[in-house]
Amino acid sequence: MASSAVIKIACVAVMVMVVAAPAAEAITCGQVTSSLAPCINYARVGGAIPPSCCNGIRTLNNLAKTTADRQTACKCLQSAASTIKGINFSLVAGLPGKCGVNIPYKISPSTNCASVK
Ligand SMILES: *[C@@H]1O[C@H](CO)[C@@H](O)[C@H](O)[C@H]1NC(C)=O
Repeated sequence: MASSAVIKIACVAVMVMVVAAPAAEAITCGQVTSSLAPCINYARVGGAIPPSCCNGIRTLNNLAKTTADRQTACKCLQSAASTIKGINFSLVAGLPGKCGVNIPYKISPSTNCASVK
């Protein structure tokens, strides 16, 4: 293989890393909804909280490090919740506390995500 090809591949690899790095850090709606998927049944009917749901909340809290991330997570939660019928938001609001996780905003349809810090 010609050494110029090696150099080209190295350049592409560096560009991919530079472009991908910020995107890998920002939270996505996919991460939010997949983290909280085990919570959906509890959010509708209550009962026992599955351990996987608490783990999901913890994961989400660890992913959302910045104000921008938390605002994104808040919006994703609201839009996800609005597509699921029968969510009981008083159950949802109590979830972080029951899991022993401190989420610095209330998960509710009336939360103004723009004011989440
Ligand atoms: C939501 O859950 C709470 C606590 O279990 C219950 O008191 C309330 O009636 C539920 N609300 C609805 C609309 O089901």
